[in-house]
Amino acid sequence: MEKVIAARNLTKEYDGLLAVDHVSFEVNRGEVFGFLGPNGAGKTSTIRMLVGLTEPSEGSALVAGYDIRKEIVEVKRRVGVVTETSNLYDELTAGENLLFASQLYNVPRNERPTRIKELLERFHLTDRRDTKFGKLSRGLKRRVVIAAALVHRPEIIFMDEPTTGLDVVSARSLRKYIEELQKEGTTVFLTTHYIEEADQLADRIALIVKGNIVTVDTPERIKDKVKGTPIVEAILSREPNKLMIKNLGELGSVDLDERRISITTGNVMVALESLIHLAKQEGLEVQHIQTQRPSLEDAFVELTGISAESMMSEKSRGRR
Ligand SMILES: Nc1ncnc2c1ncn2[C@@H]1O[C@H](COP(=O)(O)OP(=O)(O)O)[C@@H](O)[C@H]1O
Ligand SMILES: [Mg+2]
Repeated sequence: MEKVIAARNLTKEYDGLLAVDHVSFEVNRGEVFGFLGPNGAGKTSTIRMLVGLTEPSEGSALVAGYDIRKEIVEVKRRVGVVTETSNLYDELTAGENLLFASQLYNVPRNERPTRIKELLERFHLTDRRDTKFGKLSRGLKRRVVIAAALVHRPEIIFMDEPTTGLDVVSARSLRKYIEELQKEGTTVFLTTHYIEEADQLADRIALIVKGNIVTVDTPERIKDKVKGTPIVEAILSREPNKLMIKNLGELGSVDLDERRISITTGNVMVALESLIHLAKQEGLEVQHIQTQRPSLEDAFVELTGISAESMMSEKSRGRR
Protein backbone atom coordinates (compact mmCIF):
# COMPACT_ATOMS: atom_id res chain seq x y z
CA MET A 1 0.00 0.00 0.00
CA GLU A 2 1.20 3.46 -0.84
CA LYS A 3 2.20 5.53 2.16
CA VAL A 4 1.23 9.18 2.12
CA ILE A 5 2.59 9.94 5.56
CA ALA A 6 5.60 8.35 7.18
CA ALA A 7 6.63 9.80 10.53
CA ARG A 8 9.93 8.76 12.10
CA ASN A 9 10.75 9.59 15.70
CA LEU A 10 8.67 12.70 15.42
CA THR A 11 9.14 14.68 18.61
CA LYS A 12 7.90 17.96 20.04
CA GLU A 13 9.29 19.32 23.24
CA TYR A 14 8.05 22.43 24.99
CA ASP A 15 10.45 23.55 27.72
CA GLY A 16 11.27 20.07 28.91
CA LEU A 17 7.78 18.67 28.30
CA LEU A 18 7.76 15.91 25.69
CA ALA A 19 4.37 16.62 24.13
CA VAL A 20 5.14 14.19 21.29
CA ASP A 21 7.73 11.61 22.22
CA HIS A 22 9.58 10.01 19.27
CA VAL A 23 6.52 8.69 17.48
CA SER A 24 6.68 6.68 14.27
CA PHE A 25 3.72 5.71 12.15
CA GLU A 26 2.57 5.47 8.56
CA VAL A 27 -0.65 6.47 6.85
CA ASN A 28 -1.85 4.70 3.69
CA ARG A 29 -3.22 6.57 0.73
CA GLY A 30 -7.01 6.81 0.81
CA GLU A 31 -7.54 5.76 4.38
CA VAL A 32 -9.12 7.56 7.27
CA PHE A 33 -6.41 7.47 9.90
CA GLY A 34 -7.72 8.11 13.39
CA PHE A 35 -5.43 9.68 15.95
CA LEU A 36 -7.26 8.86 19.16
CA GLY A 37 -6.22 10.12 22.55
CA PRO A 38 -7.29 12.15 25.56
CA ASN A 39 -6.76 15.89 25.88
CA GLY A 40 -3.09 16.71 26.17
CA ALA A 41 -1.99 13.49 24.44
CA GLY A 42 -0.11 15.37 21.73
CA LYS A 43 -2.58 15.15 18.84
CA THR A 44 -2.59 18.83 17.90
CA SER A 45 1.18 19.09 18.26
CA THR A 46 1.58 16.15 15.86
CA ILE A 47 -0.70 17.71 13.25
CA ARG A 48 1.04 21.07 13.59
CA MET A 49 4.38 19.45 12.84
CA LEU A 50 3.04 17.44 9.90
CA VAL A 51 1.61 20.52 8.19
CA GLY A 52 4.45 22.90 8.92
CA LEU A 53 2.84 25.05 11.61
CA THR A 54 5.61 24.16 14.02
CA GLU A 55 9.01 22.53 13.69
CA PRO A 56 9.77 19.12 15.15
CA SER A 57 12.27 19.13 18.01
CA GLU A 58 13.56 15.82 16.71
CA GLY A 59 12.74 13.31 14.00
CA SER A 60 10.90 14.06 10.81
CA ALA A 61 8.17 12.92 8.46
CA LEU A 62 7.41 12.53 4.80
CA VAL A 63 4.02 13.96 3.94
CA ALA A 64 2.70 13.43 0.39
CA GLY A 65 6.26 12.39 -0.47
CA TYR A 66 7.99 15.50 0.85
CA ASP A 67 10.13 16.06 3.90
CA ILE A 68 8.44 18.37 6.39
CA ARG A 69 11.83 19.73 7.42
CA LYS A 70 13.17 20.56 3.98
CA GLU A 71 10.22 20.78 1.62
CA ILE A 72 7.39 22.25 3.63
CA VAL A 73 6.20 24.44 0.74
CA GLU A 74 5.57 21.31 -1.34
CA VAL A 75 3.80 19.69 1.62
CA LYS A 76 1.54 22.70 2.11
CA ARG A 77 0.42 22.60 -1.52
CA ARG A 78 -0.82 19.05 -1.05
CA VAL A 79 -2.53 19.16 2.31
CA GLY A 80 -5.59 20.83 3.76
CA VAL A 81 -5.84 21.65 7.44
CA VAL A 82 -8.86 22.03 9.67
CA THR A 83 -7.56 23.37 12.96
CA GLU A 84 -9.34 23.26 16.29
CA THR A 85 -10.16 26.93 16.17
CA SER A 86 -11.41 28.44 12.96
CA ASN A 87 -9.02 30.45 10.84
CA LEU A 88 -11.74 32.21 8.81
CA TYR A 89 -13.06 35.76 8.98
CA ASP A 90 -16.29 36.52 10.83
CA GLU A 91 -16.87 39.66 8.78
CA LEU A 92 -16.60 37.91 5.42
CA THR A 93 -19.42 35.80 4.02
CA ALA A 94 -19.06 32.07 3.53
CA GLY A 95 -18.46 32.64 -0.19
CA GLU A 96 -15.93 35.43 0.40
CA ASN A 97 -14.02 33.27 2.86
CA LEU A 98 -13.78 30.50 0.28
CA LEU A 99 -12.63 32.99 -2.34
CA PHE A 100 -10.02 34.31 0.05
CA ALA A 101 -8.82 30.76 0.77
CA SER A 102 -8.60 30.01 -2.96
CA GLN A 103 -6.40 33.10 -3.44
CA LEU A 104 -4.25 32.09 -0.52
CA TYR A 105 -3.74 28.63 -2.00
CA ASN A 106 -3.07 30.03 -5.48
CA VAL A 107 -6.00 28.32 -7.14
CA PRO A 108 -5.90 29.57 -10.76
CA ARG A 109 -8.15 32.63 -11.02
CA ASN A 110 -10.39 31.18 -13.75
CA GLU A 111 -11.03 28.03 -11.73
CA ARG A 112 -12.04 29.79 -8.52
CA PRO A 113 -15.75 30.41 -9.21
CA THR A 114 -16.54 26.81 -10.18
CA ARG A 115 -14.40 25.39 -7.41
CA ILE A 116 -16.22 27.52 -4.83
CA LYS A 117 -19.62 26.72 -6.30
CA GLU A 118 -18.85 23.00 -6.16
CA LEU A 119 -17.70 23.19 -2.55
CA LEU A 120 -20.75 25.17 -1.47
CA GLU A 121 -22.99 22.58 -3.11
CA ARG A 122 -21.12 19.64 -1.74
CA PHE A 123 -21.34 20.92 1.82
CA HIS A 124 -24.92 22.10 1.38
CA LEU A 125 -23.94 25.69 1.95
CA THR A 126 -25.20 27.27 -1.27
CA ASP A 127 -28.01 29.12 0.53
CA ARG A 128 -25.48 30.45 3.07
CA ARG A 129 -23.04 31.77 0.52
CA ASP A 130 -23.86 35.39 1.38
CA THR A 131 -24.19 34.92 5.13
CA LYS A 132 -21.38 36.36 7.22
CA PHE A 133 -19.26 33.57 8.67
CA GLY A 134 -19.65 35.00 12.18
CA LYS A 135 -23.42 34.65 11.92
CA LEU A 136 -23.40 30.95 11.11
CA SER A 137 -24.11 28.17 13.60
CA ARG A 138 -21.17 26.14 14.86
CA GLY A 139 -22.05 23.20 12.65
CA LEU A 140 -22.24 25.35 9.53
CA LYS A 141 -19.04 27.16 10.45
CA ARG A 142 -17.25 23.85 10.68
CA ARG A 143 -18.51 22.94 7.22
CA VAL A 144 -17.22 26.21 5.75
CA VAL A 145 -13.86 25.66 7.43
CA ILE A 146 -13.61 22.20 5.88
CA ALA A 147 -14.66 23.52 2.48
CA ALA A 148 -11.97 26.20 2.74
CA ALA A 149 -9.39 23.52 3.53
CA LEU A 150 -10.30 21.77 0.29
CA VAL A 151 -10.16 24.66 -2.22
CA HIS A 152 -6.79 23.53 -3.59
CA ARG A 153 -7.88 19.87 -3.82
CA PRO A 154 -5.40 18.49 -1.32
CA GLU A 155 -4.35 14.84 -1.31
CA ILE A 156 -4.55 14.73 2.46
CA ILE A 157 -6.85 16.60 4.78
CA PHE A 158 -5.88 16.98 8.43
CA MET A 159 -8.79 17.50 10.76
CA ASP A 160 -8.15 18.32 14.38
CA GLU A 161 -11.14 17.22 16.46
CA PRO A 162 -13.62 18.32 13.82
CA THR A 163 -16.73 17.28 15.75
CA THR A 164 -15.71 18.57 19.17
CA GLY A 165 -18.17 21.16 20.44
CA LEU A 166 -20.82 20.32 17.87
CA ASP A 167 -24.33 19.18 18.68
CA VAL A 168 -25.19 15.56 17.96
CA VAL A 169 -26.93 16.25 14.65
CA SER A 170 -24.16 18.47 13.26
CA ALA A 171 -21.54 15.97 14.38
CA ARG A 172 -23.34 13.16 12.61
CA SER A 173 -23.67 15.13 9.40
CA LEU A 174 -19.99 16.05 9.58
CA ARG A 175 -19.06 12.37 9.86
CA LYS A 176 -21.02 11.77 6.65
CA TYR A 177 -18.99 14.44 4.89
CA ILE A 178 -15.81 12.80 6.13
CA GLU A 179 -16.93 9.45 4.72
CA GLU A 180 -17.69 11.13 1.39
CA LEU A 181 -14.28 12.75 1.29
CA GLN A 182 -12.69 9.37 1.67
CA LYS A 183 -14.85 7.88 -1.08
CA GLU A 184 -13.51 10.55 -3.39
CA GLY A 185 -9.98 9.38 -2.64
CA THR A 186 -8.82 11.97 -0.13
CA THR A 187 -6.70 10.65 2.70
CA VAL A 188 -8.08 11.85 6.03
CA PHE A 189 -5.95 12.32 9.12
CA LEU A 190 -8.45 12.77 11.90
CA THR A 191 -7.78 13.44 15.55
CA THR A 192 -10.46 12.79 18.10
CA HIS A 193 -10.99 11.95 21.74
CA TYR A 194 -14.26 10.19 20.93
CA ILE A 195 -13.70 6.44 20.92
CA GLU A 196 -16.91 5.73 19.01
CA GLU A 197 -16.10 8.27 16.37
CA ALA A 198 -12.72 6.68 15.71
CA ASP A 199 -14.37 3.26 15.66
CA GLN A 200 -16.95 4.39 13.14
CA LEU A 201 -14.78 6.45 10.80
CA ALA A 202 -11.23 5.22 10.94
CA ASP A 203 -9.76 2.43 8.86
CA ARG A 204 -6.87 2.39 11.28
CA ILE A 205 -6.42 3.99 14.65
CA ALA A 206 -3.32 5.14 16.47
CA LEU A 207 -3.90 5.29 20.22
CA ILE A 208 -1.85 8.15 21.58
CA VAL A 209 -1.31 8.78 25.27
CA LYS A 210 1.12 11.26 26.82
CA GLY A 211 2.97 11.75 23.56
CA ASN A 212 3.42 8.04 22.89
CA ILE A 213 1.65 5.79 20.44
CA VAL A 214 0.39 2.76 22.31
CA THR A 215 -0.79 0.85 19.24
CA VAL A 216 -1.70 1.36 15.58
CA ASP A 217 -4.19 -1.01 14.02
CA THR A 218 -7.67 -1.45 12.58
CA PRO A 219 -10.49 -1.02 15.11
CA GLU A 220 -11.31 -4.72 14.75
CA ARG A 221 -7.80 -5.88 15.46
CA ILE A 222 -7.49 -3.51 18.38
CA LYS A 223 -10.64 -5.12 19.84
CA ASP A 224 -9.10 -8.55 19.26
CA LYS A 225 -6.15 -7.56 21.42
CA VAL A 226 -8.40 -7.66 24.45
CA LYS A 227 -8.17 -11.26 25.48
CA GLY A 228 -10.65 -13.38 27.35
CA THR A 229 -13.52 -10.97 27.26
CA PRO A 230 -15.92 -12.34 24.65
CA ILE A 231 -19.17 -13.08 26.40
CA VAL A 232 -21.83 -15.64 25.61
CA GLU A 233 -25.18 -14.70 27.08
CA ALA A 234 -28.29 -16.84 27.24
CA ILE A 235 -31.73 -16.81 28.75
CA LEU A 236 -33.02 -20.23 29.72
CA SER A 237 -36.55 -21.40 30.40
CA ARG A 238 -35.64 -22.25 34.03
CA GLU A 239 -32.81 -21.60 36.40
CA PRO A 240 -30.06 -24.14 35.65
CA ASN A 241 -29.08 -26.64 38.35
CA LYS A 242 -25.76 -26.73 40.20
CA LEU A 243 -24.29 -29.48 38.06
CA MET A 244 -24.94 -27.59 34.87
CA ILE A 245 -23.39 -24.44 36.31
CA LYS A 246 -20.38 -26.45 37.36
CA ASN A 247 -20.04 -27.90 33.85
CA LEU A 248 -20.36 -24.50 32.27
CA GLY A 249 -17.74 -23.23 34.68
CA GLU A 250 -15.17 -25.30 32.82
CA LEU A 251 -15.65 -23.05 29.78
CA GLY A 252 -14.95 -19.77 31.48
CA SER A 253 -16.25 -17.65 34.31
CA VAL A 254 -19.99 -17.96 34.74
CA ASP A 255 -22.38 -15.30 35.96
CA LEU A 256 -25.87 -16.34 36.86
CA ASP A 257 -28.88 -14.10 37.40
CA GLU A 258 -31.86 -16.44 37.75
CA ARG A 259 -32.53 -17.63 34.20
CA ARG A 260 -29.96 -15.34 32.62
CA ILE A 261 -26.53 -16.81 32.28
CA SER A 262 -23.36 -15.26 30.92
CA ILE A 263 -20.04 -16.93 30.28
CA THR A 264 -16.87 -14.96 29.76
CA THR A 265 -14.76 -17.17 27.60
CA GLY A 266 -11.80 -17.35 25.27
CA ASN A 267 -13.64 -19.75 23.00
CA VAL A 268 -17.05 -18.53 21.95
CA MET A 269 -17.89 -21.43 19.63
CA VAL A 270 -17.23 -24.12 22.22
CA ALA A 271 -19.18 -22.18 24.84
CA LEU A 272 -22.16 -21.78 22.53
CA GLU A 273 -22.24 -25.45 21.62
CA SER A 274 -21.76 -26.69 25.17
CA LEU A 275 -24.39 -24.38 26.55
CA ILE A 276 -26.96 -25.58 24.04
CA HIS A 277 -25.96 -29.20 24.56
CA LEU A 278 -26.08 -29.02 28.37
CA ALA A 279 -29.41 -27.20 28.32
CA LYS A 280 -30.89 -29.92 26.13
CA GLN A 281 -29.59 -32.61 28.50
CA GLU A 282 -31.29 -30.90 31.43
CA GLY A 283 -34.51 -30.39 29.51
CA LEU A 284 -34.09 -26.60 29.47
CA GLU A 285 -35.11 -24.44 26.58
CA VAL A 286 -32.67 -21.79 25.35
CA GLN A 287 -34.96 -18.83 24.82
CA HIS A 288 -32.35 -16.36 23.76
CA ILE A 289 -28.65 -16.54 23.06
CA GLN A 290 -26.16 -13.92 21.97
CA THR A 291 -22.47 -13.20 21.94
CA GLN A 292 -20.73 -9.96 22.73
CA ARG A 293 -17.36 -8.81 21.56
CA PRO A 294 -15.30 -6.42 23.58
CA SER A 295 -15.91 -2.85 22.42
CA LEU A 296 -13.19 -0.49 21.29
CA GLU A 297 -13.80 1.23 24.61
CA ASP A 298 -12.91 -1.97 26.50
CA ALA A 299 -9.79 -2.30 24.38
CA PHE A 300 -8.85 1.31 24.90
CA VAL A 301 -9.17 1.02 28.67
CA GLU A 302 -7.14 -2.20 28.73
CA LEU A 303 -4.40 -0.92 26.43
CA THR A 304 -3.99 2.54 27.94
CA GLY A 305 -5.15 2.16 31.51
CA ILE A 306 -7.22 5.30 30.99
CA SER A 307 -10.89 5.19 31.89
CA ALA A 308 -13.36 5.94 29.12
CA GLU A 309 -14.84 8.74 31.23
CA SER A 310 -11.62 10.65 31.64
CA MET A 311 -10.90 10.01 27.98
CA MET A 312 -14.14 11.59 26.86
CA SER A 313 -13.84 14.43 29.31
CA GLU A 314 -14.43 17.70 27.47
CA LYS A 315 -12.35 19.57 29.98
CA SER A 316 -9.18 20.49 28.21
CA ARG A 317 -6.02 20.33 30.22
CA GLY A 318 -4.08 21.47 27.22
CA ARG A 319 -3.65 24.94 25.91
CA ARG A 320 -5.86 26.03 23.04
N1 LIG B 1 2.73 25.94 22.62
C1 LIG B 1 2.84 25.16 23.69
N2 LIG B 1 3.67 25.47 24.70
C2 LIG B 1 3.82 24.68 25.77
N3 LIG B 1 3.15 23.53 25.95
C3 LIG B 1 2.29 23.16 25.00
C4 LIG B 1 2.08 23.95 23.81
N4 LIG B 1 1.17 23.31 23.04
C5 LIG B 1 0.83 22.20 23.69
N5 LIG B 1 1.48 22.08 24.86
C6 LIG B 1 1.38 20.96 25.81
O1 LIG B 1 1.74 19.79 25.12
C7 LIG B 1 0.91 18.70 25.48
C8 LIG B 1 0.20 18.17 24.24
O2 LIG B 1 -0.70 19.14 23.78
P1 LIG B 1 -1.55 18.96 22.47
O3 LIG B 1 -0.65 18.59 21.35
O4 LIG B 1 -2.37 20.18 22.31
O5 LIG B 1 -2.46 17.70 22.84
P2 LIG B 1 -3.92 17.29 22.33
O6 LIG B 1 -4.17 17.98 21.03
O7 LIG B 1 -3.87 15.81 22.22
O8 LIG B 1 -4.88 17.74 23.38
C9 LIG B 1 -0.04 19.23 26.55
O9 LIG B 1 0.50 18.92 27.81
C10 LIG B 1 -0.03 20.73 26.30
O10 LIG B 1 -0.30 21.43 27.47
MG1 LIG C 1 -5.73 19.14 20.46
